[in-house]
Formats: sequence, C-alpha cells, structure tokens
Amino acid sequence: EDLGIVTVGFSGGQPKAGVDAGPTALIESGLLTQIRDELGYKLHGDETVKFYNDLTPASDPDYRGMKNPLLVSAVTKKIASETYEHSSKGRLTLTLGGDHSIAIGTIAGTAKATRERLNREIAVIWVDAHADINTPETSDSGNIHGMPVAFLTGIAKEEKEEYFGWIQDDMRLSVRKLVYIGLRDVDAGEKRILREHGVKAFSMFDIDRHGIGRVMEMALAHIGDDTPIHLSFDVDALDPMWAPSTGTPVRGGLTLREGDYICEVVHQTGNLVAIDLVEVNPSLAATEAGAQETVRAGCSLVRCALGETLL
Ligand code: ARG
Ligand code: MN
Ligand code: MN
Ligand code: MN
Repeated sequence: EDLGIVTVGFSGGQPKAGVDAGPTALIESGLLTQIRDELGYKLHGDETVKFYNDLTPASDPDYRGMKNPLLVSAVTKKIASETYEHSSKGRLTLTLGGDHSIAIGTIAGTAKATRERLNREIAVIWVDAHADINTPETSDSGNIHGMPVAFLTGIAKEEKEEYFGWIQDDMRLSVRKLVYIGLRDVDAGEKRILREHGVKAFSMFDIDRHGIGRVMEMALAHIGDDTPIHLSFDVDALDPMWAPSTGTPVRGGLTLREGDYICEVVHQTGNLVAIDLVEVNPSLAATEAGAQETVRAGCSLVRCALGETLL
C-alpha cells in the first residue's frame, strides 16, 4: 500500500520551543523504517523534515487575538496542498507534527481531495485532552493550536485570505462528521460551542463509564459505515504517565493501550484516509527517559493506525 508522508517541524501555533523537533525524533527512533520494513508500506514524500522557514513573514502582529496568525495561516495553507497532493493520488497520508495547528492544513487538504476523488465528506476522529475548537474570540491564550477545529468547521470565520480566508468550502469539515475522544480539559467557551453545535464527544468520563471498546463502537456508529476517516491524534490525549513530553499535558488521560486500541480499531474499518500525530515535544520532559517514552508512544500509535497487530 502507498503511504504519503508529510513531516512538519512547526511550533508557531503555540509558545513552547521544541515541538518542531517532534518529527525528527519520531523518525530517528525508527518509525519510517518500521512502517516500510515491518508493515510493508511504500513511502512517498518527505525524506527530510520540513521547517517552512521560508514562510516566516517580516512582521506578524496579533490579529483578533491570534498569535503568529500570518505564519500559521501560510504554513497550514502549504500543508493543505501537500496532503491534497498525496490524497488525490489515493495514498493514505501520514503527517508528523508539529503542534496541532497544522491540522488546519492536513484536514483541509484531505477533505478537498476526498470530495474530488470519492465524492464523499470525510469524518474526523479527534483524539485529544483538548477540544481545540476555540474561536479567536473565545480563546484565552491566542494560541492557534487551540483553534484548528473552529476554522475547519467554519465556526470561526475569516474573510481575509492571509488569515485563514484561503479555507474554501470544499476544504471544510462538517460538525456532524466530527467525533472527539479523550477530552478532559475543555475551556468554558469551547463547552458552549460543543453544546450549541451538538458535537459528538467522548470525554474521559465516557471512557470510564463504558470502556474504550464500547466508546469506539459508538464513535464509529456516529460516523457511519463506509465514510472516509481522518484520524487526528494529539499525543496529550495519553496520560502524562505515557506521554509526559508535550506542551499542555493533562493528568487523568488514556493509557497507552487505550490509545493504541483507538488506532487499531480505526485501522480495522478500512476507511482511514489520513493520520496526524502531533504535539510530541522531546524537549519538555523532566528526564531524557520521559522524552524517549513519549516518542515511543507516538510511534506505537502510528504503527497501530497503520495496521500493526499484537498477534
Ligand atoms: N484550550 C487551550 C487553548 O486554547 C489549550 C489548547 C491545547 N491544544 C493543544 N493542541 N495541545 O489554548
Ligand atoms: Mn491537546
Ligand atoms: Mn490538540
Ligand atoms: Mn490493513
């Protein structure tokens, strides 16, 4: 099977340095070799990690409270063209981040290509401690990695091309086709948005109540059979016990096995069209071992989504 690789060494959607080293750390720990040699994929695309330094604007003042708006808009627009390219050719697309703002690009590109190629809307399974659905106005931080879902669904609107106005209707995600898993740190404004739009969300409470097996059944039932799926996995969905080296860790999260299980089940649908793995920041763990564990957890999630099985 053909796999398109997009590697995004980007940190501009949030203030902490180091998340731009995520893709390099994942690749150096052997992820791409494992995908090629053990899982048998034919890889296309980025051989070396992209940093998009050429897209840095001369000046980038806050706009509607957003930080680095011109930069994040330009980089995500470029990423959209890359995932579009792979997805148009029928390749499953794997993007290694980078902070979660990059999903504006990965999902926009996949959504457009899937509409053109299969005449279908994509569904997104967003696995995260956070909902990342703030509008510029509801965000307390101004960090765009907390806003991607709002821009993709059109809940946050902006006309100006250079401030995400490039996101056209055929790049959008329908709120009905969005499912969250793992939520446990959702801002007040985000809770209002989720309620108003009736977004399907399985928090840690739901996972405790039903177990991850039942939650995945319900999540997939909501999406419906035979719907192309884009899996956007923020490593901070995992408990910091498994993934401490990330910018916004929140205790009380998924075990590594629960994370792997989500990926395994999504693979088994046979409907996966794209995967993002984001927010691995190797420089934030208290110990070198903590950074390595986070990288290893990230590799495990990706391998499971690509079809690795235990037996
Ligand atoms: N809700 C907070 C914010 O808007 C945190 C977002 C964290 N997002 C992430 N992709 N880790 O800033
Ligand atoms: Mn998160
Ligand atoms: Mn996130
Ligand atoms: Mn398979």
